[in-house]
This record gives sequence, structure tokens and C-alpha cells, in this order.
Amino acid sequence: MKLLVTAGPTREPVDPVRYLTNRSSGKMGYAIADAATHAGHHVLLISGPTSLDVPAGVDFIPVETAAEMYAAVAAYLPRMDAAIFAAAVADYTPAEPAVQKIKKSGDCLSLELVKTKDILGSARSEIGFTGFLVGFAAETENIEANARLKLVAKACDLIIANDVSRSDIGFDTHENEALLVFTDRTELFPKAPKHDLAIRIVSMLGE
Ligand code: CTP
Repeated sequence: MKLLVTAGPTREPVDPVRYLTNRSSGKMGYAIADAATHAGHHVLLISGPTSLDVPAGVDFIPVETAAEMYAAVAAYLPRMDAAIFAAAVADYTPAEPAVQKIKKSGDCLSLELVKTKDILGSARSEIGFTGFLVGFAAETENIEANARLKLVAKACDLIIANDVSRSDIGFDTHENEALLVFTDRTELFPKAPKHDLAIRIVSMLGE
């Protein structure tokens, strides 16, 4: 099948030399792209900046901002059979990035941020995607309940929920433990290398 994967963080410009970003390494999304290619799927990886090598055989679109990621996803999603949104997209972006470098002046500096578009949340409603849709949920409390709310709100077939308050799994680590939240059931995927979780997620496409 044709599969779209988003991965990595986004970078939201503050001025020509500064940006807002997050701790996502991209490892989970890249592991999914690699596992899906090995399983015989045709993969398009749309990724924010990472230090990872693009897996062999994967089509690749590099992006920086949440807005660029939205545009790339909207352009390619309609022709896909499945999509996995593993990117850690910025929820807010500077309202008006400064054209010149912001100079040091007063003791405090306020930055006005505006909401970005929810890419996963737009997949069904705005982009009209009808294929198998997988999202991630980064949670620090009430993990299953919050993930189930995201499953319904974003009309997904599956949410992979992580406890991001733990330092041994998730952001910028090699291992992950996850709750796989389907519309009719929840499964625990015990702590294992991200590559193993990637193989499990790919095996569930279209399940
Ligand atoms: N996501 C997205 N576009 C955004 C924000 C999030 O596509 N602008 C996707 C992520 O790739 C992930 C899912 O939505 O698959 C959930 O992301 P998460 O950060 O857990 O949730 P949010 O919807 O941002 O909600 P909150 O931060 O309030 O928990």
C-alpha cells in the first residue's frame, strides 16, 4: 500500500537566527518508514529537521515549519492508502516572526504565539482522507483516556499513546512503550526498541 509518514519536530521562526522547537528526534517516524519499506509498502516520509539518515527506498520531503508540513501533507495525502502521523508538530507559532534579529533591550520580552493548524485533525475533515489513519498521543497523565479522546476528536483508526513524563522511553530515546488505542480495544506494547514497535504498527495497517 501507499503510506505517508510524518516525523520529527518542526521549527517555528522567531527572527532570522532563532526558532521554537521541541525534543523530538524523529527516531519513531523514521523507524516506521524503514519498517514499512521492508514490508513492501511504498513510503513517503515528510519530516522536520533531524540528524537521521533517510531510510533507503523511501520518498522524502523535508520541511521546517508546521505550516510547511501541513501543505506537504495536504498535497500528497489524498493519493495514500494509509497515514501515520508521528511528527511532534508545534501547536503554536510566533504571530509575526521579526524580519531583523531581535535586539537585546528590556529585562523581559513577550512573544505572541498563534495556534498552528492541527494536521492530523484536518486529515478527515479538511483534506478528506478516507484511508487508515494512525496518530500519536504524547501524554503525561490519564494516558488511555486522553488518547481515546484524541482517537475520536481526530477520527483516527488507531492512536499510539506514549507517557512522555518518563525519561527512559519516548522523546529522544531508542526505546518506547505504548498503548495501542483502537476504536474497540486497547493493547499494551511493552517497552522495546522503537524498531520493534515500528514493525508492530506497520503490521496493523488496515487491520
Ligand atoms: N499533530 C498534528 N498537527 C499538529 C499537532 C499535532 O498533526 N499541529 C498530530 C501529531 O503528529 C500526533 C497527534 O496530532 O499524531 C497528537 O499530538 P499531541 O501533541 O499528542 O496532541 P495535540 O493534539 O497537540 O494535543 P495536546 O498537545 O493538547 O495534548
